Amino acid sequence: MTTHTTKSRTEATDRGGDVRLTGISKTYGSFTAVHPLDLTVPQGSFFALLGASGCGKTTTLRMIAGLEEPSGGTVHLGDQDVTALPPYKRPVNTVFQSYALFPHLDIFENVAFGLRRRGIKSVKKQVGEMLDLVQLGEQARKKPHQLSGGQQQRVALARALINHPKVLLLDEPLGALDLKLRRQMQLELKRIQTEVGITFVHVTHDQEEAMTMADRVAVMNAGHVEQLGAPADLYENPRTTFVANFLGTSNLIEAEVDTRNGDDVVVKAAGDKLVLPGARCSAPARAGGKVLVGVRPEKISLTHADDAGSVPEGRNRVTGRISNTSFIGVSTQYVVDCAACPEFEVYAQNIDRDPRLAPGADVVLHWNPAHTFGLDAAQSVLAGTMGEAGIAEGEAA
Ligand SMILES: Nc1ncnc2c1ncn2[C@@H]1O[C@H](COP(=O)(O)OP(=O)(O)OP(=O)(O)O)[C@@H](O)[C@H]1O
Ligand SMILES: [Mg+2]
Repeated sequence: MTTHTTKSRTEATDRGGDVRLTGISKTYGSFTAVHPLDLTVPQGSFFALLGASGCGKTTTLRMIAGLEEPSGGTVHLGDQDVTALPPYKRPVNTVFQSYALFPHLDIFENVAFGLRRRGIKSVKKQVGEMLDLVQLGEQARKKPHQLSGGQQQRVALARALINHPKVLLLDEPLGALDLKLRRQMQLELKRIQTEVGITFVHVTHDQEEAMTMADRVAVMNAGHVEQLGAPADLYENPRTTFVANFLGTSNLIEAEVDTRNGDDVVVKAAGDKLVLPGARCSAPARAGGKVLVGVRPEKISLTHADDAGSVPEGRNRVTGRISNTSFIGVSTQYVVDCAACPEFEVYAQNIDRDPRLAPGADVVLHWNPAHTFGLDAAQSVLAGTMGEAGIAEGEAA
């Protein structure tokens, strides 16, 4: 993986991190679930492992927890090599998707459980503080079945946090909740993490969830970390087609490098000339070479062909015909058939809608060249999409 070396090098200098995986891997017979990976989760950060089903997220998390023995590599927590330690000797707690609260105990006793097990007698103050932290102070004497899914999830969180782990591992903890509650709990989890300040490693297949909550996200694909960074950086500067497609939507256009113009790269795509910043091009930009040009749907403006003269100079522009529109309230999503890209997606905020922008209309798509990125053309354009070849395409890579 091209991104791997750069990542390891920058991270090798970051030794203060709470969780450090070095060459950690897991094989089951001849199948490799996790390829040797290096990962540092800085202390006190909210870190997300994001990827499609089966990419190795849970396996990685379980190796941190000590629930799964690595086939190779080491796990450090702080300065301590914990690779050979059993789970209960690691300063780590895990919250799973199924919260498995004790049904016969009330909320207070569920949260007190870890303290009581350690023989601590006076638990009232600590349990009270934990219940306040997760805003369940009023519910202390209820049984788990009398709480909503989101409340039960918060009990599970309090039950883990009361042990003061150095690291909290969360495996799809919001998976069982409906969308609205999920959104609410994402903000709640983030608030709690900020308040307690311990390292959270959160596993999810939901890209929005990862981006909302995490300071840093590692995008996993088929047992590899494909790219790692802050959410906005991953979104704006994907380095692979998998990341470009898996995080949101990208229009990817096959193009040929024409020339370099100062810091910019000029490319040709189906007769149109497009410009992109050289610094945002992760492919070698040699004249005549192939490159995939990417632009996010929300960066593009749509102008009816009759008004083409009003498009400002200096914008990247492509012409096409609208094939589909969907009105989704805050925005309208257009699919435009262009020579360079048969399903060009454009998201336009619904401020002043031009009624002429309907299926069949000829349009000009235009955007600021600075919003364009370039990727190595020797990758599948479909990697990371839900399309025909879909995720399977990425997994086979
Ligand atoms: N005990 C096992 N024996 C054999 N294969 C396994 C075992 N555990 C996991 N795998 C395989 O390893 C791969 C990674 O599994 P893992 O549970 O880490 O995926 P995941 O990213 O957590 O997926 P999901 O989002 O569905 O939970 C999968 O292909 C899975 O089938
Ligand atoms: Mg899993």
